[in-house]
Amino acid sequence: MTIDDELLAAENLSLRPVTDKRPIAALMTKYWGSPRMLVGMHTYDVTVIDAHGLFDPAGNLVAFASWTMRDKNMMLCALHAVTEGRGIASHMLECVKDLAREQGARNIRAMVSNDNMPALIFYQKCGFRFSTLYVGAVDAYRGQMPGLIKNGYLGIPVHDALELEFAL
Ligand SMILES: CC(C)(COP(=O)(O)OP(=O)(O)OC[C@H]1O[C@@H](n2cnc3c(N)ncnc32)[C@H](O)[C@@H]1OP(=O)(O)O)[C@@H](O)C(=O)NCCC(=O)NCCS
Repeated sequence: MTIDDELLAAENLSLRPVTDKRPIAALMTKYWGSPRMLVGMHTYDVTVIDAHGLFDPAGNLVAFASWTMRDKNMMLCALHAVTEGRGIASHMLECVKDLAREQGARNIRAMVSNDNMPALIFYQKCGFRFSTLYVGAVDAYRGQMPGLIKNGYLGIPVHDALELEFAL
């Protein structure tokens, strides 16, 4: 096991609320061009809503989830693994499921843009099912999310939003 493997092992990561949202907003802006995310035909600013993070023993943020409650639905507005391909997002998502249960949620909703193949695979591997296809939603909301990228994964044009849901 390398030092990196040990630092990133699930048992060595601690979950806590993220109070300083600036690094999250910076990452979201780097990825998507905006700190605002679209879920269920609402836009949410990740600097305003709740966020939890997984931190390594050195205090580095290795994954985060931005979320808010709407009725009995947890709206998962963002979930990022800073280091990919190590099972960290899966671990973060398990923590999110626990948080959602604590909040009394009946399900978790996540929105993925049409280009985002890694996220579409990730959520389905983690038990999410498709619930709604919003054709043209990203284009329709661009005015509320200035700077939002036009092309995403492998240069695929970003137009639509796919909502996935996990029943708790
Ligand atoms: C999508 C993302 C969250 C996956 O994070 P990760 O830590 O690499 O995912 P994990 O290692 O926990 O992988 C979980 C499963 O998803 C699969 N997966 C994750 N990324 C994948 C990819 N790019 N291609 C194929 N499969 C992928 C893994 O193979 C794994 O399957 P397994 O359980 O059968 O081994 C990460 O790439 C990311 O942060 N992307 C940018 C932000 C984003 O798009 N978030 C989601 C929408 S807000």
